[in-house]
Amino acid sequence: MSRVGAERKESAVSDKTVKLIDEANKTTELPLVGGTMGPECIDIAKVYKETGHFTFDPGFAATASTKSAITYIDGDQGVLLYRGYPIEQLAEHSNFLEVSYLLMNGELPNKSEFDNFEHQVTHHTMMHESLKNYFRGFHHDAHPMAMLCGAVASLSAFYHDDLDIEDPEQRKMAAIRLIAKMPTLAAAAYRYTIGWPIRYPKNSLEYCDRFLHMMFEVPSEPLELNPVAAKAMDLLFILHADHEQNASTSTVRLVGSTGANPYASVAAGIAALWGPAHGGANEAVLKMLAEIGSPDNVETAVKRAKDKDDSFRLMGFGHRVYKNFDPRAKIIREMCHKVLNELGVSDPLLDVALKLEEAALKDDYFVERKLYPNVDFYSGLIYKALGIPTEMFTVMFAIARTAGWAAHWCEHHETPGARIGRPRQIYTGAATRDYVAADKR
Ligand code: SDX
Repeated sequence: MSRVGAERKESAVSDKTVKLIDEANKTTELPLVGGTMGPECIDIAKVYKETGHFTFDPGFAATASTKSAITYIDGDQGVLLYRGYPIEQLAEHSNFLEVSYLLMNGELPNKSEFDNFEHQVTHHTMMHESLKNYFRGFHHDAHPMAMLCGAVASLSAFYHDDLDIEDPEQRKMAAIRLIAKMPTLAAAAYRYTIGWPIRYPKNSLEYCDRFLHMMFEVPSEPLELNPVAAKAMDLLFILHADHEQNASTSTVRLVGSTGANPYASVAAGIAALWGPAHGGANEAVLKMLAEIGSPDNVETAVKRAKDKDDSFRLMGFGHRVYKNFDPRAKIIREMCHKVLNELGVSDPLLDVALKLEEAALKDDYFVERKLYPNVDFYSGLIYKALGIPTEMFTVMFAIARTAGWAAHWCEHHETPGARIGRPRQIYTGAATRDYVAADKR
């Protein structure tokens, strides 16, 4: 059996190593690689060559797949930083477009940089007119994530001028187009499912107002925009914009590493986000709260969630990285009360959610496993109060996460020597055997 000796050479951080001693008692020295913050990593790139062994970490719970300067998470402390700025400060002082600029460029923009970025995004919000035919190919009961995923992948068919992934300017243009067009495509998908005509984006409106207008303006009368709704949506978009190497972002980077165009890479991210274990959880939370129905049924729900023979899980609870409160969930929970009050909405499901959180956080099963509410636990209640239908919740997540996906896709291509991602495996299938003729089987 091999073991990793913890002896570290007392020397400058850059040449710290760990020793791997294999079953033949051969020692392999492996470098320790560190970043600005967070745990140091054992660089295992030469393990197979030196020892003939692969490493094994299904789910990548302890494996860093890349270096990145975009987002930092400390799961034990419940810390989330975008380019070093705490999410709590960005939530209080920033806006989604400024955060998108920060994630993409690494620094907060000054006024002229922001104005220029906002102008670029505002003037790339329209979709090609032919793309409207794409939506018409669906039945009205199609899930909007199915439409969004396909529509984003199809963008490369319309924009041939930003597909050279070696050209930094074209990469930046594609990123801006993705951030700009996601709300337009999302609103088009929603309008198609309710049989309303697709609305053009209005350049006179700001990002969230423009999206709400495309979602809810009916042809027969002007829409009165509600600043509370736009502000709440902008804050939710900030909180959902990026989150390190989560499943969908890792997917975008992996697909991008093959040289696939930015639209195909982000479409793959949308597909990954859709799963109920990931971004699809916000839709699943609302369905779960509705199924529980009343605070009186919370105890039964907690019991079911603990029962290994019951597939029921508390959706919106638990996280691979956070073993403390998800800092985004804390902000969204406070926001929930404020937005529902300001909108004059009272939702009995909020009482169910609060009772469920209280019951779970007192229960040993959840405490021992460090299962806390995550970003998806309360967000759906706010989207519901804003009039967003449940099927659109993960679409909302995708609009916001496009900023992070675009930033990570660009960062991958800016990384010197970046290679195609290609994990190995432990093979458990049949050993080598000869073909058997059909009449001998
Ligand atoms: C997001 O990675 C990211 O950063 C994602 C995200 C982002 O911004 O990109 O933060 C967004 O995806 C948030 C997570 C949304 N998903 C959910 O809310 C779905 C419910 N949660 C789980 O399915 C689960 O907690 C995960 C998927 C989030 C994490 O899964 P892990 O890390 O693989 O943990 P696990 O499934 O191995 O669970 C460990 C234990 C198990 O029990 P034991 O085997 O130890 O007895 O905790 C239990 C699990 O059964 N458990 C739960 C539970 N989550 C974990 N039990 C009941 N209800 C839950 N929600």
